[in-house]
Amino acid sequence: MPRKLFVTTALPYANAGFHIGHMMEYIQADTWVRAQRMRGAEVNFVCADDAHGAPIMIAAEKAGKTPQQFVADIAAGRPQYLNGFHIAFDNWHSTDGPENHRLAQDIYLALRKNELIDVRAIEQFFDPVKGMFLPDRYIKGECPKCGAKDQYGDSCENCGAVYAPTDLKNPYSALSGAAPVRKTSEHYFFRLSDPRCVSFLEQWTQDGKLQPEVGNKIREWFTKNEDGTGGLGDWDISRDAPYFGIEIPDAPGKYFYVWLDAPVGYLASLKNLFDKRGADMEAYLADPAVEQVHFIGKDIVYFHTLFWPAMLHFSGRKVPNNVFVHGFITVNGGEKMSKSRGTGISPLRYLELGLNPEWLRYYIAAKLNARVEDIDFNPDDFVARVNSDLIGKYINIASRAAGFLSKRFGGKLSADLGVEGRVLLDTLRAHRATVEELYEEREFGKAVREIMQLADRVNEYVDQHKPWELAKKEGQDAALHDVCSVCIEAFRVLTIYLKPILPALAAQVETFLKVPPMDFADASRALGHHAIGAYQHLMQRVDAQQMDALFEPPAPVMVVPGGEPIAAEIGIDDFAKVDLRIAKIVNAELVEGSDKLLRLTLDAGEGRTRNVFSGIRSAYKPEDLVGKLTVLVANLAPRKMKFGISEGMVLAASHGDGKAQPGLYLLEPHPGAQPGLRVR
Ligand code: MSP
Ligand code: ZN
Repeated sequence: MPRKLFVTTALPYANAGFHIGHMMEYIQADTWVRAQRMRGAEVNFVCADDAHGAPIMIAAEKAGKTPQQFVADIAAGRPQYLNGFHIAFDNWHSTDGPENHRLAQDIYLALRKNELIDVRAIEQFFDPVKGMFLPDRYIKGECPKCGAKDQYGDSCENCGAVYAPTDLKNPYSALSGAAPVRKTSEHYFFRLSDPRCVSFLEQWTQDGKLQPEVGNKIREWFTKNEDGTGGLGDWDISRDAPYFGIEIPDAPGKYFYVWLDAPVGYLASLKNLFDKRGADMEAYLADPAVEQVHFIGKDIVYFHTLFWPAMLHFSGRKVPNNVFVHGFITVNGGEKMSKSRGTGISPLRYLELGLNPEWLRYYIAAKLNARVEDIDFNPDDFVARVNSDLIGKYINIASRAAGFLSKRFGGKLSADLGVEGRVLLDTLRAHRATVEELYEEREFGKAVREIMQLADRVNEYVDQHKPWELAKKEGQDAALHDVCSVCIEAFRVLTIYLKPILPALAAQVETFLKVPPMDFADASRALGHHAIGAYQHLMQRVDAQQMDALFEPPAPVMVVPGGEPIAAEIGIDDFAKVDLRIAKIVNAELVEGSDKLLRLTLDAGEGRTRNVFSGIRSAYKPEDLVGKLTVLVANLAPRKMKFGISEGMVLAASHGDGKAQPGLYLLEPHPGAQPGLRVR
């Protein structure tokens, strides 16, 4: 019976593209899944965007989009990364999909039926301007301990104190600047402190399946302190409208907190996949042989080892068989990358520069182990590992042997191979079980080391038998044939061992060797008298200059002393979209009811005039402008204003903040320009 696996990676917040931390998680999980498939397992590997929550709602509002449009735009960018790095999810969905709405509500209703939901009144800060309760990170004020200004609602960056947002002095809303007011509302709680939950979780987390360091950490969370603090607390799972999320049944205006519906998104993505296949997802999960495993980073262990198993168990569902936790990737020994800033190297820039995605897969795999350890991306180390190991030890085996085979033996392999050759190949094959086991245990670094040691042995064999010398000697054809055939067989076995990490390279090798897609079992078979194809270059070395380019900031941000920073870089095509024309101000007048605007009548050489409202009243008298030339944005969409329609915009220079430094300067062309000329 094949092993049946349901595998996920954490659902990324749909508020930005991926950073290298995301890619590392996907590479780890994808490598594991590919290894499982090569061992014959049936795997469903899914992920989704984590679409809900206050930060995404607020980001969408800032971007002038509905939250649905905002997350759809983020989702549209995902395939570039996933295809780019050969991450083969079977499905990518969204926690805002209908499947998730239903599943989250079903799970909640089952918990409620199990008497694990409580309703309690909570007093929180409310933004009277925005008309919403403020999440902790949107409340700022002075630290109650040290008085530092502009501290967040949960802790002080200056003195490290941890407190409740209501403890802040002179609090203000980071959204509107308004002083928040205290307001009471009813919140829904998942009663995690219920003895049923505590004993279930003690069992589920301490039965030896989790990584030891994860189990230990969780034990700390269970421990009650003498003062009554600590231990599992109840979990606040509701948020008040306005909120981008899933409505709580029978609770108008209440939504599930994003972390309630986010992990349910694992099931929703699976459901979406099964529906597309016309298959029954609930029946699949009811099969006790199906193993459910989640790959996550160390920052979200609490949610995945406490809340999530409890939600599943007490709603009568299958609980995860395991949660595999990885550490964080840093870049150049740098700090842990911040979630919001996502500093470090950009995965898209990596691809744009033409760097091979499988170099990164190889490098990350070579650094990973089964523990919760951070790893560091170091460019020199990257170049060394790719060039000396991947190319120098592995790829070179094929390039050294393939030429002789095609030139001298019509691409046909010899089946004899000689005693030493057979011994070498037997040694390689004997390591198959170890290699498979190392993949199984997520000890990818050890697997890579093991495989590179095998490659070393093959290279020793090549150096001993020197095919380039055999090729020059009379009567050594058979020996040359054997040695080169051994090399190709060895290369094939090594390719199988590396295939979970280097799927695209392995596919190229399969084409070159004229063999169907290989799995681990193929390592134990011999090709025999088989004709291979012509060798084509399989993989380039990395060039240290490519690394430099990766670390150069793509668009230097120039800051004018005291002024506004230069906006993000654009291409000439972006600029060409703006149609700027010379326009003559044929009339200018005050606008009744506005102390900012002037009404301009402009001639841009179109055989008609345009009406444009411009906020330059503070700097110009209408009569001083009449007859002057200026620059008009001629293809700006007309805008309906209180005073009429504005058909374009005139250009003026100003300080970013007109309040601090007044001054407005309308642009005027040098003498000779005519209305209608294009400015470019
Ligand atoms: N949306 C939540 C997860 C919900 S799962 C039901 C979330 N999203 S995230 O985008 O912030 O992170 C997604 C995954 O990336 C998490 O597993 C997180 O640990 C991982 N990583 C984020 N930064 C990372 C590194 N620097 N290195 C490795 N993984 C990192 O959390
Ligand atoms: Zn402080």
